Amino acid sequence: MENIFAKKLNEAMKNKGYKQIDILNLAEQRGIKLGKSHISQYVSGKTIPRETILNFLSEVLEVDFKQQGSKENRQTQELNKELNQKSENNKKTEMGGHRMREFKKSIKLDNVLYDVRGPVVEEAARMEAAGNHILKLNIGNPAPFGFSAPDEVIHDMRSQLIDCEGYSHSKGLFSARKAIMQYMQNKKVPGVTIDDIYTGNGVSELINLSMLALLNSGDEVLIPSPDYPLWTACVTLAGGKAVHYICDEESEWNPDIEDMKKKITDKTKAIVIINPNNPTGALYPKDILQKIVDLAREHQLILFADEIYDRLIFNDEEHISVASLAPDVFCVTFSGLSKSHMVAGYRVGWMVLSGNKRIAADYIEGLNMLSNMRLCSNVPAQSIVQTSLGGYQSVKNYIVPGGRVYEQCEYIYKALNDIPGISAVKPKAGFYIFPKLDVKKFNITDDEKFTFDLLREKKILLISGKGFNWDKPDHFRIVYLPRIEVLEEAVDKMRDFFSYYRQ
Ligand SMILES: Cc1ncc(COP(=O)(O)O)c(C=O)c1O
Repeated sequence: MENIFAKKLNEAMKNKGYKQIDILNLAEQRGIKLGKSHISQYVSGKTIPRETILNFLSEVLEVDFKQQGSKENRQTQELNKELNQKSENNKKTEMGGHRMREFKKSIKLDNVLYDVRGPVVEEAARMEAAGNHILKLNIGNPAPFGFSAPDEVIHDMRSQLIDCEGYSHSKGLFSARKAIMQYMQNKKVPGVTIDDIYTGNGVSELINLSMLALLNSGDEVLIPSPDYPLWTACVTLAGGKAVHYICDEESEWNPDIEDMKKKITDKTKAIVIINPNNPTGALYPKDILQKIVDLAREHQLILFADEIYDRLIFNDEEHISVASLAPDVFCVTFSGLSKSHMVAGYRVGWMVLSGNKRIAADYIEGLNMLSNMRLCSNVPAQSIVQTSLGGYQSVKNYIVPGGRVYEQCEYIYKALNDIPGISAVKPKAGFYIFPKLDVKKFNITDDEKFTFDLLREKKILLISGKGFNWDKPDHFRIVYLPRIEVLEEAVDKMRDFFSYYRQ
């Protein structure tokens, strides 16, 4: 029923020749928050505005809606009271004349950390928006640094695009999975069939899926420290507990097997290894991998191996897939094209099951359920897997002497070690280096603060060790994808920064 306020409002609008949109425009001009739904409710008599809106309407319509002592005003006040009471009961907060419900993020996210795109990165974005040029050494995204996909890959995706309009099999196209199967055969991983291969929208999606399918509340997963933080984040999100084992800087950042052993409990379900490693650039030798396999065998654990950098290894060193050493242990091996083919934006990765699949039949059913639920991964991106994995590998040009990634690695390694108070282990693969800060010299107690200070003073963006689940404030990660001239500029600025910086 139209109330007296609404009647008066409609009359006033008619007299002025205003439509609802005119009132909205006038409100916007005056910086008053007024939504379409609000004004239509006032006009239809469903609700009555609060005081600031009443004042505004009185002003623009030249009618005193707040007339003291008037019958209408008393009715207005009473109705307002009633509406406020109802809203209060609904536990809503005030906004634009209504009480609005607030939505909070789920508590599942409370302990999830992903600083590679976290608060320091947000501050960098704010500085950029204010006109600053920021040198970004925070994320392993090859394209912005002038790396592009091989021509053949682009050509093949273009020519197959019209055949990729529909959903594929939930695990992926046959051609893609066949090529991955052959790739695993070349890496001497036994017993992999087409059915054991799942393509994903990047390795990222599959890390999440594989942890969601496995973990119950309180289940523990051994994860390296430092790690690629998505692993810890996905274990936590899935309700599990990430237990970090140390990778030892004194031993070329190899996993500390004794520490790993100490951290296995009756709740441990799996060990994650990242080899070659992000953020350290380590490449694990056979004897270390063998010891990890032995532990997994002894304690009946699953091995998750993230091998996305396995085609980015310097000096012709060999990458050994841990699954090739573990024909009797259930293994899940991850890789993709984001790094080796410089197509991180296409979103294509895969995971491969191998070893004792019988003991994991129920888990595999869970993987299949989740894989089916997302229907399939990006089909145009799957269409280039066969081309990418076969034949000539253009990435090799980058990782030999004279190649960009190789030379950038050589440069950054030497340049960082020349800065007093900084030391770094030489990476053997990938495009990251994880240098150590002399915390006594710089008096650093908070590594995230250090990255904020460097960003604000030198406009260089990097991520501190904390972002990689490293528990001391004495490391940071540099992505050395930029050209040497750019790295030189960054190192000059860092040298200057470290000459005076004390926390
Ligand atoms: C170790 C590691 N695993 C997985 C990923 C995610 O890769 P993708 O682009 O395939 O999702 C990254 C990306 O930086 C990574 O460094």
